[in-house]
Amino acid sequence: MAWNGGEAADRLRQLQEAVAYHNHRYYDLDDPEITDAEYDTLVQELASLEKQQPEYQSQGSVTGRVGGTVTAAMGVVHFASSVLSLNNVHSEEELQEFYLRVSAALGQERPSFTAELKIDGLSVVIWYRDGILQKAATRGDGNSGEDVTANVRMIRDIPQTLAQPVSLEIRGEVYMPRSAFESLNQNREQEGLALFANPRNAAAGSLRQLDPLVTGSRALSAFFYQIRQWGEPHDSVSTQHGALEFLAGLGLPVEPHYQFCESYEAVVSYVRQWESARRDLNYDTDGLVLKLDNLSLQPVLGDTQKAPRWAVAYKFPPEEVLTQILAIEISVGRTGVLTPTAILKPVRVAQTTVSRASLHNEDIIRERDIRVGDTVYVRKAGEIIPEVVRVEKSLRPAGSVPFVFPERCPVCGSQAVRLPGEAAYRCTGGMACPAQVRESLIHFGSRDAMDIEGLGEKTVDLLLAAGLVARVDDIYRLSADSLQGLPRFGALSSQKLLQSIEESKHRALDRLIFALGMRYVGQRVSTLLAHHFHTMDQLQAASMEDLVQVEEIGETIADSVVHFFTQPLNQDVIAHLKDLGLNMVEQESLVAQTPLTGKAVVVTGTFVQIPRKSLEAWIGQMGGKVTAAVSQRTALVVVGEKPGSKAAKARDLQVPIMTEQEFFGWMADSGFPVRTPGGLA
Ligand code: IVH
Repeated sequence: MAWNGGEAADRLRQLQEAVAYHNHRYYDLDDPEITDAEYDTLVQELASLEKQQPEYQSQGSVTGRVGGTVTAAMGVVHFASSVLSLNNVHSEEELQEFYLRVSAALGQERPSFTAELKIDGLSVVIWYRDGILQKAATRGDGNSGEDVTANVRMIRDIPQTLAQPVSLEIRGEVYMPRSAFESLNQNREQEGLALFANPRNAAAGSLRQLDPLVTGSRALSAFFYQIRQWGEPHDSVSTQHGALEFLAGLGLPVEPHYQFCESYEAVVSYVRQWESARRDLNYDTDGLVLKLDNLSLQPVLGDTQKAPRWAVAYKFPPEEVLTQILAIEISVGRTGVLTPTAILKPVRVAQTTVSRASLHNEDIIRERDIRVGDTVYVRKAGEIIPEVVRVEKSLRPAGSVPFVFPERCPVCGSQAVRLPGEAAYRCTGGMACPAQVRESLIHFGSRDAMDIEGLGEKTVDLLLAAGLVARVDDIYRLSADSLQGLPRFGALSSQKLLQSIEESKHRALDRLIFALGMRYVGQRVSTLLAHHFHTMDQLQAASMEDLVQVEEIGETIADSVVHFFTQPLNQDVIAHLKDLGLNMVEQESLVAQTPLTGKAVVVTGTFVQIPRKSLEAWIGQMGGKVTAAVSQRTALVVVGEKPGSKAAKARDLQVPIMTEQEFFGWMADSGFPVRTPGGLA
């Protein structure tokens, strides 16, 4: 597009502001508003305007800098040499131009490259001295980053000690595996917490925590890909693929699919192979990185202010496809939330056929002005969940009207209300709403709740249609006789179902609490409630005041619990569940995995709430190892009153330190409240 001088200056300023704003959202807030591809479009336009009209380029324009600023809450680490970003290319043509540029600069026809997958995570720099982890920092703005040493120590895949006593400054990417991201979001949804948009944001949010133990409770991983600095002269590594092998040999995690490419053809076939194969990995990749393999030739090309000239990122084309919205359907969840779903003309996105996409809530429909009949861009958020990105307004059919959110439940016709401060409409029909009954029965039998095998959606629908169940206690009144004659139900399947129903009577109390489906009471809160109150009777009798005593339980949850138990219908259901023989008390259960599993913990000082010996024994029961001395291998130091030199040593070594109170609070948070002689800490 051609601009005259004044227009160009305005446009430049606008673009600079826009890019700075989106940088801030992405790097500082971990909450981007636009896709990577959209961001790249902005940056490209800005860069080309700046090139055409260098007089308008402001000092330190955003295109010349690496994004992100450093927040003051964490310590700051200054880098001796800039932690650079990469220049991007978006097509094979641009990739070839890069290859030819490097060849020309080196005067070589066929330079060799190492091709790597570009992990979509958070860049970190780590220092090891004599093989021992010293310090870790985020990339920040490239000149200084946040000190995340204590947090990085909580990432299991990052060794505290290397296989050789070398001193190195290395760079890598911290990421969250897709499977961990999904279960984290599932748990957050159950707890009523905001969801992370994608694994990258979840990784960034988890690493940039002031509490390292929160980082520790999130399943983060890392891959390392660069040796930035050697502490001593060396002759062991002269190529990039050699560097990756060397890092792996030290016990560091290295992404295993890198490839040494001796020709441009090899590079292209790597690109084509990974364009689709990347979808089967358990981590997100947003492109490939091509690096000149011979390390001694890299300085010949040198760096720009922002990125090396000897490497480039090939960004995968985003899979956004156009399709049409045929209808907007409203479904009703267990707690009465009305969720709008776009019914799409089926379309292939990222290798699967997509015909539905959640529209989340009324506000999103309104903000994006999504209407029935619209042609929209659909993509998979984090490559998994289909999402309507935006409407192609130029293709909007004449006479289309804005979508009006229903004010009545589409299933039972009860009024739907939107409570202040909430994005969702809720059906007020409660257990008179068949949709809520159905969802609550499915939830009750689900794997994380009462785990009744065979009681899935289809069976629940059959049982509802036959009038055999109307509320959860009816499940325990089913018999071989009543199941007989149900379509698809032979003697064997009914026997199996009855057996798993019978087994479910002995489930732990926290599962039953979760299965009842109180609002805001997800798995973790259920565990906290079970551990605190021990019996259903005591929980049922608990007042608001009693409930808010439980660590992490605030008024919203407490209010929801109290409200649930004051409903006569719920009281009746629980009384019947008790009569039908369901377990209503907490039994001691063996702890499989705790935040302390396999961690070396040092305990020092005098403790108020629990004798030190009991605390040490309890840490052992939780899978931790109590050790006497603080070292680099210590994961955590718990300090009581009058701590001695151990606390100082921990501070020196940047080992996480917690007071008695913080430690108990954190363990309770994680679902493992500390038992003291006087009850719960
Ligand atoms: S090399 C000078 N290699 O991508 C070295 N970066 O968009 C420059 N990234 O900031 C980085 N995987 O956070 C490199 N295999 C890989 C990578 C990688 C992911 C990230 C890194 C960088 C960003 C640039």
